[in-house]
Amino acid sequence: MNKMNIAIDGPAGAGKSTVARIVATKLGYVYVDTGAMYRAVTWKALSSGLTPDQSEPIAAMAQSMRLVLQPGHNGQVVLADGQDVTEMIRSPQVTANVSQVSQIPAVRERLVKMQKELAQAKGVVMDGRDIGTQVLPDAEVKVYLTASLRERAMRRFDEMKTKHPDLTIEQAEQDLAERDRKDQEREVSPLRQANDAILLDTTGMGIEQVAERILEISQASAGKGA
Ligand code: DC
Repeated sequence: MNKMNIAIDGPAGAGKSTVARIVATKLGYVYVDTGAMYRAVTWKALSSGLTPDQSEPIAAMAQSMRLVLQPGHNGQVVLADGQDVTEMIRSPQVTANVSQVSQIPAVRERLVKMQKELAQAKGVVMDGRDIGTQVLPDAEVKVYLTASLRERAMRRFDEMKTKHPDLTIEQAEQDLAERDRKDQEREVSPLRQANDAILLDTTGMGIEQVAERILEISQASAGKGA
């Protein structure tokens, strides 16, 4: 089967990264978590003492920053200027600021360029917000993954409760709704379903079931000679 590119977009907490990782492993493809790239820039900005509204210095920093995504034993390792930031980029502080940083056009320009390069040789499963619309408009498979806000909040709560025992489901729901709003309303490459993407509402579905469905869609697409 010829290698394809698979684009998975959708709102926060829809299970994109878990599903994308399973699909990539099953197909022997490379998984690229583009959210982690925006998170790494946000982490670097915050740890350099910048606030997310300082778009010019953040843009300059994003231009010169060395960003590497590499496969590790427990998933993808993210290196920012040589430092392993895999854990740090998941902090509530980064999560609360990443939507604002990802609105800066020069940050998007730099990261989108990198993402296109990563997918050039095909055989990539890439997840994000604008993969099907902007980064890989020619991807052979495009899926828009969503789930009800309540279910996404429950999943996020389950993921975070050990490390962040103060988080409530209501707070998780509020945080996700706020991030969705910012990601959908921004001017540059807002979150939206590509016209040719397949909508998958995963409310009530298990992760393995969702991954199976994407593998079926991919096989059907390969069968069409995509
Ligand atoms: O997928 P995630 O929750 O780790 O993404 C974090 C943020 O990064 C998300 O709220 C918006 C931004 N993002 C983006 O603007 N474009 C992408 N392709 C991926 C993420």
